[in-house]
Amino acid sequence: MSNLVLSKVTFDGSASNLESDVDPVEKFVSLLAESVSSGSFAKCTLSKNKGEEKTLVNIYVRMVEVKKKAALQFLYRHKTNDIYKNYNLEECVENMRGLLTSSFKQAHLFTTEGDWEIMIGKKTRLVKVKKATFEEPVSRQHDRTKNLIVSKQEQYLQLLGITNNEGQARPGMVDKLRQIQNFVSVLENLMKDSGIAKTSLLDDEQAGPPLTVLDMGCGKGYLTFAAHDYLTNKCGIKVRTKGVEMRQELVDKTNEWARELNMHPNDADGSNSAGLSFAQGCVTCLRYSNG
Ligand SMILES: C[S@@+](CC[C@H](N)C(=O)[O-])C[C@H]1O[C@@H](n2cnc3c(N)ncnc32)[C@H](O)[C@@H]1O
Repeated sequence: MSNLVLSKVTFDGSASNLESDVDPVEKFVSLLAESVSSGSFAKCTLSKNKGEEKTLVNIYVRMVEVKKKAALQFLYRHKTNDIYKNYNLEECVENMRGLLTSSFKQAHLFTTEGDWEIMIGKKTRLVKVKKATFEEPVSRQHDRTKNLIVSKQEQYLQLLGITNNEGQARPGMVDKLRQIQNFVSVLENLMKDSGIAKTSLLDDEQAGPPLTVLDMGCGKGYLTFAAHDYLTNKCGIKVRTKGVEMRQELVDKTNEWARELNMHPNDADGSNSAGLSFAQGCVTCLRYSNG
């Protein structure tokens, strides 16, 4: 891991010197920069967004290694999706200063030296929490590509023409691949909150009926395949997934893909994932029964 070079940012005194005249936001970004430079940085979180971007809920900052270079990754958690951006230290500091002055009213900085909290208001306060949550710096080994929720090697991604045999996005498919990653990550959060995973587990004899997933206007079924694969293969849940689409040629194609992947119920091979099918129909006049 190469080090991030601290420039234009100076750490102005001891961390416990909170009664100085230094603006708390400046102090906070200095602490952040100092912790990154000294290797004590663990993570940083921003909350209570009062800025113009209403869908933005939190920002999580962590260190990652991208192509053997250190970077600070900002995960922008919106209500329905996640966006990742990597910055060098200068950009990170600049960004953090802007976010704290214009949008976020609270932030926590976790370092191995101690945790810090800033609360921004009429009287902005920066406090050091007594004990550090992290005794050691958080591992930087897992970069974004290793943490992908949907592996780029998934068979369905290749069959649907999103990735090639090497697991790389095909030309014009980068955004689609990103959309799938974001969609499954939102689904993952919803699943954690819902408790469904506990009631529909495959290997649980007490489990209730299969979960029914309906994708209305599913088009080529990119997200239908992604949701079905995630729920069956990653969560181990009993699921019946139905994609509804008005264009017959797309329905034929997606059913063909589902069969090829042994996901279609008519070609059930006994695997959990064999519960995905597509039907032609108009969603506005749909009557869906659970059968
Ligand atoms: C933009 S595509 C979305 C595909 C898919 N949901 C995705 O996000 O990848 C919208 C699809 O909805 C279909 N569609 C539009 N109106 C529909 C309707 N009333 N009933 C069924 N399908 C419809 C279109 O044919 C098209 O394939």
